[in-house]
Amino acid sequence: MLRFCLKSLPILAAASLPSARAACDRDALLETVDEWMMGQEMGLAGPLQNIAANFTYVQNNRVADITGGQLFRIMPVDHNRTLVDMAACATYTELIMLTDSEDGNGSVVGVQIRHDPSDNSVFLIDAITTGPGDWVFNAMRTLHYAEVETDWGTLEPSQRSSRGYLKAVADNYLDMWTNLTAVDAVPWGQPCNRLEGGEYTGQGNANDTCKTSIPTGVGPADTNRRYVIDEEVGSVDVLSTFGVMDNAPDSHEFRVVNGKLRYIHAMTVTNLTAPSGLFPAIP
Ligand SMILES: *[C@@H]1O[C@H](CO)[C@@H](O)[C@H](O)[C@H]1NC(C)=O
Ligand SMILES: *[C@@H]1O[C@H](CO)[C@@H](O)[C@H](O)[C@H]1NC(C)=O
Ligand SMILES: *[C@@H]1O[C@H](CO)[C@@H](O)[C@H](O)[C@H]1NC(C)=O
Ligand SMILES: *[C@@H]1O[C@H](CO)[C@@H](O)[C@H](O)[C@H]1NC(C)=O
Ligand SMILES: *[C@@H]1O[C@H](CO)[C@@H](O)[C@H](O)[C@H]1NC(C)=O
Ligand SMILES: *[C@@H]1O[C@H](CO)[C@@H](O)[C@H](O)[C@H]1NC(C)=O
Repeated sequence: MLRFCLKSLPILAAASLPSARAACDRDALLETVDEWMMGQEMGLAGPLQNIAANFTYVQNNRVADITGGQLFRIMPVDHNRTLVDMAACATYTELIMLTDSEDGNGSVVGVQIRHDPSDNSVFLIDAITTGPGDWVFNAMRTLHYAEVETDWGTLEPSQRSSRGYLKAVADNYLDMWTNLTAVDAVPWGQPCNRLEGGEYTGQGNANDTCKTSIPTGVGPADTNRRYVIDEEVGSVDVLSTFGVMDNAPDSHEFRVVNGKLRYIHAMTVTNLTAPSGLFPAIP
């Protein structure tokens, strides 16, 4: 069975090609998510399989090494939720880990994984990993509020929005730091809750719109946006560079129901000295 090992990667990847599938395969996408989670729990990149020859690992917006066979933080996964984007052949997974083997403070991770649809090999793992010192980070509170939201499931067809609409919701939101017209173009739902690090807006307030305590017109829009869009779940995740927050690596995930914004989950890396996560800090 093919195991991830950086040095012998090109040969092994080539050897795994004969069973190539012709189209993006949902099960293959979810298999890789399981392998990633297994890696978090073992503190090893080893479980990752079906890696493309040109594989790249990006952690907190910087290319990093992913190395098999070496032990990093062991982090039992306390919560996971995945979006599947069959058009882009990609997934986004939100992971909450309460503890880890290094400092015990856990980690909250947002990871986009991109596959080549011709053989479903993984060519990009693009992760935002937050820990102590990152923007209002608190894994315990994040887990609590993520679990309060029990209605993130598949939407009825009549409640769904198109791919273009979902992307526009995210873009208008991430533009509003600079563009005041974009603020008004966001379909603010009511109620709407925003989970941002361990902070939560609109607790028990059915009138909350997620516009609460949002600064607008304060600086540049987010750049370097990477999208994963799941129309069945009505969600879009965007990884980006958050200009207003000193170019912090960021993930913003949006859930849209009946055309209106219902939930936002944000993670922002402001402690760049030691990003936590499965893999080592970037030199
Ligand atoms: C991920 O979440 C699902 C339920 O949503 C659960 O069945 C599964 O065990 C979780 N995986 C891990 C690694 O915790
Ligand atoms: C790797 O290959 C995939 C197609 O398999 C392509 O979409 C992607 O851009 C390539 N990545 C790099 C860094 O060249
Ligand atoms: C880790 O959590 C402990 C409490 O569990 C806290 O006292 C400590 O300050 C935390 N460390 C960091 C770096 O946040
Ligand atoms: C930044 O992260 C490191 C490693 O997790 C931690 O020791 C340090 O206390 C963090 N900084 C702050 C301000 O919490
Ligand atoms: C501001 O946002 C609005 C609404 O999405 C858009 O029509 C307009 O083109 C944007 N302006 C700029 C300068 O990007
Ligand atoms: C919601 O808004 C209505 C009408 O503006 C108001 O009467 C009600 O008190 C508000 N509820 C909360 C929880 O703020």
